[in-house]
Amino acid sequence: METQARHLDEAYAAVNSDAHVGDYVLITVTDNGSGMSKETMAHIFETFFTTKEQGKGTGLGLATVYGILKQSKGHISVYSESGVGTTFKVYLPAVASTVRVAGAEKASLTVRGTGTLLLVEDETALRVLAATLLKKIGYTVLEAGNGVQALAAAEAHAGKIDVVVADIVIPQMGGPQLVEKLRAKQEGFAVIFMSGYTEAAALEHARVGTDAILLNKPFSAETLAG
Ligand SMILES: Nc1ncnc2c1ncn2[C@@H]1O[C@H](COP(=O)(O)OP(=O)(O)OP(=O)(O)O)[C@@H](O)[C@H]1O
Ligand SMILES: [Mg+2]
Repeated sequence: METQARHLDEAYAAVNSDAHVGDYVLITVTDNGSGMSKETMAHIFETFFTTKEQGKGTGLGLATVYGILKQSKGHISVYSESGVGTTFKVYLPAVASTVRVAGAEKASLTVRGTGTLLLVEDETALRVLAATLLKKIGYTVLEAGNGVQALAAAEAHAGKIDVVVADIVIPQMGGPQLVEKLRAKQEGFAVIFMSGYTEAAALEHARVGTDAILLNKPFSAETLAG
């Protein structure tokens, strides 16, 4: 993927009937996949056009992209070679004004934490992100991808655990069940459950007691830190 500022001139607009002269932000996406024949390329932006086997593709992906670009006065071009790969170039109109991103001014977190925190989350990307943040604000973080790993991590840790942050639905052993097992070994840790499902979380909440905190996914760094 590449990004670039680009000016489209009259010469370009003359040969690309849906492109307008102006300044754009160009996003280029290149793959080294199957590529496309000229025949296929002629149809890719059509609604429901797909070469994927039945039940695999909707043929809506590129039609949607095309629609969005039409609406925002952008432009898309495609270059592809069968067996070699494909390059899509997405042109979005550049704006001269400065854009203020909400929340961007809160660059650093003021909240600090101390102690050992057991983080249990099966989605690697989210776990790594959360662990990085929690370490940054001061916690010693033990990471686990499921309940069994979490128990092993707690067992291997010599000191006490102060906080358990666990997904409610994790492979092999649910969050509440894990907490129960941990409590049999050590009391006095705070519990924070994460869940993508508000109702399911509320239900589980009733089963684990009211001292557990519920964190609805997706949550911001500020919320997690808090
Ligand atoms: N990067 C690519 N490389 C090769 N062929 C592509 C590529 N992108 C799109 N195509 C071709 O264009 C067709 C239409 O793409 P589009 O994204 O609209 O639908 P789809 O990918 O088939 O379905 P869906 O997006 O629902 O998974 C694809 O079936 C494929 O033949
Ligand atoms: Mg697609």
